[in-house]
Amino acid sequence: MPSVVSAPAASPLLELRQIHLRRGGQEVFAGLNLGLAEERIGLIGHNGAGKTSLLRLLCGLELPQTGEVLSQGQSLHALPAGQLRAQRVGMMFQNPDDQIIFPTVEEELALGLQPRGLSRRETLAAARAFLAERSLADWGARAVSTLSQGQRQRLCWLALLLAGPRTLLLDEPYASLDLPSQAHLSDEIAACGRQVIVSTHVLGPVRDCARVIWLHEGRVQADGPGSEVCAAYEAAVACELAQARAGRAPTPCAL
Ligand SMILES: Nc1ncnc2c1ncn2[C@@H]1O[C@H](COP(=O)(O)OP(=O)(O)OP(=O)(O)O)[C@@H](O)[C@H]1O
Ligand SMILES: [Mg+2]
Repeated sequence: MPSVVSAPAASPLLELRQIHLRRGGQEVFAGLNLGLAEERIGLIGHNGAGKTSLLRLLCGLELPQTGEVLSQGQSLHALPAGQLRAQRVGMMFQNPDDQIIFPTVEEELALGLQPRGLSRRETLAAARAFLAERSLADWGARAVSTLSQGQRQRLCWLALLLAGPRTLLLDEPYASLDLPSQAHLSDEIAACGRQVIVSTHVLGPVRDCARVIWLHEGRVQADGPGSEVCAAYEAAVACELAQARAGRAPTPCAL
């Protein structure tokens, strides 16, 4: 097992303490502890490892059976679900169709501005201006259903960016993006000035993160600099594949 373990960071924006989570009879986490202080954190691991569940816990969409989720030292679930929580943390869903509510792009973007107490006219105007700054003015009145999968994923990212919580949780944001769009998203993440926690199977964008957490079956398998954790994960996958192709049962050298 890799021995990559990061030093505990001071003053985490988000923290999980002794989290036990069952989803539909499945035990996902059994006593998970994590402090999340770094501005860029990658989350990697096999399908079913617990990445989405972790992000859902961090934004209050999932309630642990026991344990606590802390936002800036306060219990997340004790915070009002409206404006204050929306300012602290927001999530971009793995599947854009689980996130998008409104029929048009500008209405979807405007939704994230509602907690600021603006009028509908003001939120729509801000959404249009935001699109125009990105040379996407023609997207404003477009029906979301006419966007491609990758474009809907980009819309979800833009909606979260415009809403602007302190921490942005991105669940597989690169999954449907072409290579230029992946690079563009990485640049926007780097420039956004927010804490970003990104779950991904595309390792390139998180390889240079100061911190990457590798989850395996609900446990932290490795936690440290992106270059080291990604290399350890790739080595484990290569080992696992070699064993499977040779018809051998996996041994601890793999995972
Ligand atoms: N709604 C649910 N009901 C029951 N079990 C669930 C539910 N959602 C997820 N699980 C289980 O919880 C575990 C963690 O799932 P999760 O979606 O967090 O994994 P993941 O790392 O995000 O996987 P992927 O890479 O496929 O997105 C899996 O074993 C999964 O089967
Ligand atoms: Mg997932």
